[in-house]
Amino acid sequence: MDVNAFVLAQLPPPPARVLEVGCGGGELAQALDAAGYDVLAIDPRAPAGALFRTVTLEELEEPGPFDAAVAVRVLHHVDPLGPAVAKLARLAPLLVLDEFAPERLDAVAQDWYDGQRRVLAATGADPGGPEDLDEWRAAHSDLHPSAVVLAAVRAAFEERLLTWEPYLYRWLTDPASESHERALVETGALPALGYRWAGTAPASGCARGTRAGRRA
Ligand SMILES: C[S@@+](CC[C@H](N)C(=O)[O-])C[C@H]1O[C@@H](n2cnc3c(N)ncnc32)[C@H](O)[C@@H]1O
Repeated sequence: MDVNAFVLAQLPPPPARVLEVGCGGGELAQALDAAGYDVLAIDPRAPAGALFRTVTLEELEEPGPFDAAVAVRVLHHVDPLGPAVAKLARLAPLLVLDEFAPERLDAVAQDWYDGQRRVLAATGADPGGPEDLDEWRAAHSDLHPSAVVLAAVRAAFEERLLTWEPYLYRWLTDPASESHERALVETGALPALGYRWAGTAPASGCARGTRAGRRA
């Protein structure tokens, strides 16, 4: 399932108000808008347009509430992470994430990625993605590992979904890379470097008490 289909499957049906954090070029925001959602998409690098605002999450002054917040390949960059996730929890009762686990990029994954790039380059295609993963790793040592991101979101939301996914194909230009990486992840030959997560606002203490009272 591609990332837009995953996000759409996690959202309540439209009409609903959705905050997208770290929207990049805006493709997901445009897809959500086309599906009937009321979208605010933020990123310091957001494109111009009615859906977009060129601010960080930290700078955003929009009071909300939103029905959901979505962040695709963003939270592993955000520092400090705890206050940012707490702000998302104040703004929306549902958080949907598509994420990258940089700590899982081991020697086997690196070999596979380098091989895919070599094959693509041999055909004359631009393989996409970083050329040298050792250099890339050294330049991105500040990215949060998945355990840090998951601990932060689990502190503010109740987890309702976590799946581990192939990821490196998203850096590569060849569409066939996805099925190849997925097959190797499924057999355990490659680590899953991506994950998808959704969580909802915790039930209030009052609501929990009410349910417990009903059961008693
Ligand atoms: C890897 S890109 C992903 C972009 C897009 N979501 C995608 O999947 O193509 C990460 C994006 O997060 C944005 N970003 C990083 N920290 C942010 C923050 N604190 N608030 C809003 N956006 C942020 C960056 O500017 C960048 O565009």
